[in-house]
Amino acid sequence: MNGQKPAQNPIKILGIESSCDECSASVVTLTESGERVDVLSVATFSQIALHAPYGGVVPELASRNHLETINAMIEQALQESGTSARELAAIAVTQRPGLVGALLVGVTAAKAMAMALQKPLVPVHHLEGHLSSLFLDRDEPALQHLPLLAAVISGGHTNLYVIRDVPTRWPRDVLSTSLVGRSRDDAAGEAFDKTAKLMGFPYPGGVWIDRTAKLGGKRDAYAFPRALPQKDTLDFSFSGLKTAVSLEVKKIPAEELESRKPDLCASVQEAIVEAILRKIKLACRQYGCRSLAIVGGVAANSRLREGLETEAKKWGLAMAPSFPLKQYCTDNGAMIAAAGAFRFRQGHYLTGRDALGLAAMASAQN
Ligand code: KG4
Ligand code: ZN
Repeated sequence: MNGQKPAQNPIKILGIESSCDECSASVVTLTESGERVDVLSVATFSQIALHAPYGGVVPELASRNHLETINAMIEQALQESGTSARELAAIAVTQRPGLVGALLVGVTAAKAMAMALQKPLVPVHHLEGHLSSLFLDRDEPALQHLPLLAAVISGGHTNLYVIRDVPTRWPRDVLSTSLVGRSRDDAAGEAFDKTAKLMGFPYPGGVWIDRTAKLGGKRDAYAFPRALPQKDTLDFSFSGLKTAVSLEVKKIPAEELESRKPDLCASVQEAIVEAILRKIKLACRQYGCRSLAIVGGVAANSRLREGLETEAKKWGLAMAPSFPLKQYCTDNGAMIAAAGAFRFRQGHYLTGRDALGLAAMASAQN
């Protein structure tokens, strides 16, 4: 990484996301204050319909589809924001973690643009992108009340971070130095998706469980297991829940399944949400956190939002829990552009041969 001189605000950046099944590009500006990111455009092609028949993401299909759609998404994002590529301060792209073939498409497109336009290239960690989604189109006061407990709860991760010092280390290095809890097996989003599949919902099932639970589902209709209830760990485990739901669904006569779905969904959702609430509360206590932020696809879950808003009032935090705007919870190019803008401002970007040498990485860490 070749450090350069820090950039001046406002910064206009293109962000590209292709780590999984959303192909997304976005143009944002980092405002004068440097604390808020205005989204000028987001163009996303969701591959949900492509993967739905297989019940999950098929990596090879994902990368081929990214290849077909990425240029159109970039063009659309530039056009809708009224930006010419020459005006961009830099190009940010998800470099890791994710499906390597899918990441490679975004990284290659970003490199080609950076080379052709002679612009800096900013590699972004996908989870840093999720954290940065807090600043999209909204003011985020959580950083004024440190330590901040930040939970990244998505289809791939259930990670708890305690963030003690910003802005000097925000968002750079935050992820590598502050992890205090994570899932030992399935991520929370994966638990939603796998249990939804057992009930016959299409992929990704999280949003279906959320919606169906609202149709009068009783949260205590089924007593599903709570992940790692013991107080000595901040880790999660959701694989037992999947087994319990599978056994329960098998007991239900086929003709009754439809009518039982609201209760099943409300009970599964409660088991996942309660585990998350319990660990977040424990982490806040252990580390004396004064603020709390939840990001990632599962942060869109209405029961999680409602539960946290009620529960967190009792935890002595300096402010109500923070969530990104709902449209920025699941993967999108704007969060990558935001993280890229923060990095770029701190002088962390690549040019010339260094940019050309950037490799896509499947893993979260080296
Ligand atoms: O952040 P994201 O788009 O991708 C990853 O980085 O993994 O998260 C996708 C996950 C999926 O598992 C999806 O089912 C879940 O977020 N999700 C939800 C809801 N909306 C999306 N889970 C529960 N309730 C929702 N409303
Ligand atoms: Zn994600």
